[in-house]
Amino acid sequence: MGVKNRKKHTKNTPEPQKTNHITPHESLRRDSKKTKKSWRDSRRTVFSLGAIVGLLIALYFGGFSGKTNTALFDNLVNFEFLQEYMEDWREVIPQSISSLISDFQQRNLQTTPPTSLTESFAVGKQLRREMNLTSKHPVIMVPGVVSTGIESWGVYGDEECPSEPHFRKRLWGSFYMLKSMVLDKVCWLRHVMLDPETGLDPPNFTLRAAQGFEASDFFMAGYWIWNKVLQNLGAIGYEPTKMSTAAYDWRLAYLDLERRDGYFSKLRQQIEEYHSMTGEKCVLVGHSMGSQIIFYFLKWIEAEGPLYGNGGQGWVEKHIGAFVNVAGTLLGAPKAVPALISGEMKDTIQLNALAMYGLEKFFSRKERLDMIQTWGGVPSMLPKGGSLIWGDMQASAEDALHNNTDTFGNFIRFERQTGPFSRRNLTMEDSIALMLELAPSWLRDRVHDQYSFGYARTGQELRENELHHSHWSNPLEVPLPDAPSLKIYCFYGVGNPTERAYVYKEDKDHPDLNFTIDYETSQPVFFTEGDGTVPIVTHAMCHKWAQGQTPYNPANSSVTVVEIRHQPDRFDIRGGAKSAEHVDILGSAELNEYILRIAGGFGDTIEPRLISNMTQWVREMPFPM
Ligand SMILES: *[C@@H]1O[C@H](CO)[C@@H](O)[C@H](O)[C@H]1NC(C)=O
Ligand SMILES: *[C@@H]1O[C@H](CO)[C@@H](O)[C@H](O)[C@H]1NC(C)=O
Ligand SMILES: *[C@@H]1O[C@H](CO)[C@@H](O)[C@H](O)[C@H]1NC(C)=O
Ligand SMILES: *[C@@H]1O[C@H](CO)[C@@H](O)[C@H](O)[C@H]1NC(C)=O
Ligand SMILES: *[C@@H]1O[C@H](CO)[C@@H](O)[C@H](O)[C@H]1NC(C)=O
Ligand SMILES: *[C@@H]1O[C@H](CO)[C@@H](O)[C@H](O)[C@H]1NC(C)=O
Ligand SMILES: *[C@@H]1O[C@H](CO)[C@@H](O)[C@H](O)[C@H]1NC(C)=O
Repeated sequence: MGVKNRKKHTKNTPEPQKTNHITPHESLRRDSKKTKKSWRDSRRTVFSLGAIVGLLIALYFGGFSGKTNTALFDNLVNFEFLQEYMEDWREVIPQSISSLISDFQQRNLQTTPPTSLTESFAVGKQLRREMNLTSKHPVIMVPGVVSTGIESWGVYGDEECPSEPHFRKRLWGSFYMLKSMVLDKVCWLRHVMLDPETGLDPPNFTLRAAQGFEASDFFMAGYWIWNKVLQNLGAIGYEPTKMSTAAYDWRLAYLDLERRDGYFSKLRQQIEEYHSMTGEKCVLVGHSMGSQIIFYFLKWIEAEGPLYGNGGQGWVEKHIGAFVNVAGTLLGAPKAVPALISGEMKDTIQLNALAMYGLEKFFSRKERLDMIQTWGGVPSMLPKGGSLIWGDMQASAEDALHNNTDTFGNFIRFERQTGPFSRRNLTMEDSIALMLELAPSWLRDRVHDQYSFGYARTGQELRENELHHSHWSNPLEVPLPDAPSLKIYCFYGVGNPTERAYVYKEDKDHPDLNFTIDYETSQPVFFTEGDGTVPIVTHAMCHKWAQGQTPYNPANSSVTVVEIRHQPDRFDIRGGAKSAEHVDILGSAELNEYILRIAGGFGDTIEPRLISNMTQWVREMPFPM
């Protein structure tokens, strides 16, 4: 069958509507019977896909028993092969996986409709033509968690799991990763897990973040992350002497990035070099966890002490022109909590459904939990601010979304009491405390050394916190740098239901994992307003800073908040030019235009836009200052 026919077939048959088209209001209004049904349905879909993939693997491995598994797997992930089978199963395949296949089709057939703003370079070319926009500020991009490739550089490994065959291969962020997961799970885990005690690579294993633009322009072949942004920057004249990607090993706790890789020192050198070469201040663009890394850097650079930046006060004012926060997790993401309590990965850490599918399918929840717990970078995304931001048993800021009939402050609920822990429901603060209580002591120690999830009560406390790195990932505990000309931009999506609260069950008799999300209940997960991965409440900090001069923003740095409505194109698997989904927003025409304007020196032409009621909610939150 010709590829063309297949393509036509997809064009004419509307694909099943994406579930994330439901607005939060709708999703909250759905009665429990319906919800129950849809949960069952989605579970069934996953099961049947599992069955298909299992069958395909079995068939292929059985049918060609003469070949090695490796060669067979290469066939299995071969595009033509997958496409042939997947086409028939389109209806039952989760949208995210068929998205991957479609991206392949688009890439390989070059059939993207012309004149669309999703087309490569389109936004950049247009701005160049209409505004004569050219490169001005050096740009450094800081990617989010999970989206940077990680390569093996070890040569020895151990007896059971030699590293040599993996030398310079990506054990995270490639088909090679999927292949290794499937064919050699034990050794894959041994490579990617960190040493619990040191928080670094186990002896004889060496994994490092991939370098350069390749580290994060595509996650896997065909699944773009930063590629659209790079293309558009290229179209207004950027090239490698004026922009770079600061990829990092997101598995590591923040200060370990400096301790092991000198990450923040390198970032500093890069910025200083750009500054002396061009005489221009840098624009730092962070996505998701990358925004937290940038905020941390702004504190690190001016702090004094061994392993700290020692750049002195005024360094940021002198070197940084703008901090662009794209769908950042400045106050954390609720998803990090179930990930660390029970290894829930149902598209948990954002991104790439195929990779996550691999993790769901081939690893038990316990294995996932054990792996995630060794990654000291993940707890940085635990929600910050406790009841101040996330509410308590009485109320939370977002309760207007469901007519105050319930509260998201009731973060982990138990519907049945089956043991000592399920006796009471938990707020955000309680849940983080429980997570730490259940965690092994090395994780507890690491979290206490590296992070802090509360908030400062006084301006003096904010200033004192600047001295220790455990506060730098929490903007409620340290102020912005004294940088009056620093411009802060917050761009994020709204209108895509986002996980916010969970129903858990306690299973006293389960041998190794006795807390899990209760998928038997009518509504196991509660959704709020957000971008599909992080709720808008995490952007409360942007709105607080935007109030003007406060102890949080001592220099009255200007803050521009632009909310982007999620309006995905039903026929574009990645949502098209108007998607504001957590990751796909990096391909949004509007976002690309903003980044180009800021980089080109026209950031002050960007108008703030508010769609949600965040500004009002933040005014009502009981901030101490
Ligand atoms: C909230 O109230 C409005 C108007 O009273 C109503 O239309 C809507 O259905 C209610 N939503 C929920 C989730 O109860
Ligand atoms: C565009 O900008 C460049 C440099 O900034 C300048 O040399 C050129 O004349 C401008 N072109 C137009 C059409 O304004
Ligand atoms: C590391 O590799 C070296 C060389 O193969 C070997 O002698 C040593 O025992 C290994 N160390 C560990 C902890 O496995
Ligand atoms: C926990 O919250 C749920 C849902 O609001 C409620 O049904 C249950 O009674 C609460 N449990 C306790 C122990 O308060
Ligand atoms: C859960 O299991 C652990 C052992 O794996 C045990 O120490 C703990 O008490 C259990 N918790 C409950 C609530 O049963
Ligand atoms: C802070 O900046 C805003 C505009 O950028 C200005 O309107 C306001 O007066 C400033 N506040 C102080 C205290 O300087
Ligand atoms: C914002 O709040 C007002 C009332 O306070 C409400 O009418 C409006 O629907 C809210 N907007 C959104 C987007 O939730």
